[in-house]
Amino acid sequence: MNIELLKKMCAANGVSGHEQSISKIIEKEVKPFVDSCRNDALGNLIAHRKGPGKKMMLAGHMDQIGLMITHIDKEGFLRFATIGGFNHVVLLAQRFVFPSGLLGVVGCERLDNQKDMALDKLYIDIGAENEEEAKKLVKVGDVCVYANPPAENGATFISPALDDRIGCFIMIEALKRLKKPAFDLYFVFTSQEEVGLRGATTSAYSVDPDYGLSFDVTISADTPKIRPLPSKMYGGAAIKLKDRSLLCHPKIIEHLEKCAEKAKIKYQYEILEMGGTDSGAIHVTRGGVPSGVISLATRHIHTSNEMCALSDIEDCIALTVKALETAID
Ligand code: CO
Ligand code: ZN
Repeated sequence: MNIELLKKMCAANGVSGHEQSISKIIEKEVKPFVDSCRNDALGNLIAHRKGPGKKMMLAGHMDQIGLMITHIDKEGFLRFATIGGFNHVVLLAQRFVFPSGLLGVVGCERLDNQKDMALDKLYIDIGAENEEEAKKLVKVGDVCVYANPPAENGATFISPALDDRIGCFIMIEALKRLKKPAFDLYFVFTSQEEVGLRGATTSAYSVDPDYGLSFDVTISADTPKIRPLPSKMYGGAAIKLKDRSLLCHPKIIEHLEKCAEKAKIKYQYEILEMGGTDSGAIHVTRGGVPSGVISLATRHIHTSNEMCALSDIEDCIALTVKALETAID
């Protein structure tokens, strides 16, 4: 697999609603392998690879969580709103980067009791001397993302943007390896998933698919004292059973199981108790769309160091290729 491409995709700055730069990177990659490619009004990138049989929509979200400046104070410190889910504990002392390249560090007000720490006690420090100097660099409404660069680390890959550049990457790699698709395929790189599956909602309506399959990270339930769940790093491609946004359709689960068994691809199941993903929107489109999800077990989700296993990425790509080349009966 093309690790350099994954690094490039993870380094792109694409908070929900600001997916233009990551969309351009993906468009350049997929264009030679599809029949048509377009952006819709909400920023989704919809690539059509013509094929026989039923229409299948694949979805991976391009957007990532981030912070938006809400206020600049007299001393030049910034207050912010979150875009997507953040735990304040993992925000403290992290570096954030604005599209201009400007860095900010998250600090916390002096507290009498550490237990009082909350999102509204935090601020971003861009190193400005005062309000006037800060306003030369940023304005209210500007957005930033975790600044940690992507890194290959032994058998793993670490990046704050794995959610969900890795889903987009799996789709791209599968598209490039695809020989004989069994479906008419729409590869949709969606916008605004982290704020409520908004891009998937509109693109599923316009694509009007027969089946839905999305790609996203899920919990790796192997870290100390984590609540037991079926998915783990190094466990292979994870076939979703349910999350907060959908109950995966038995037909799709069975299709993925069969494909994994036939091609001898390592797989596991996954259940996510919090959070959802694009198939949550796809499956309730129009009259309903049987949908499923291929997930990647990931440690430290929604932190500055999301971590996954390279072998699991490879298993997800292999399962995707097999699933797209095998008809559903
Ligand atoms: Co997420
Ligand atoms: Zn995600």
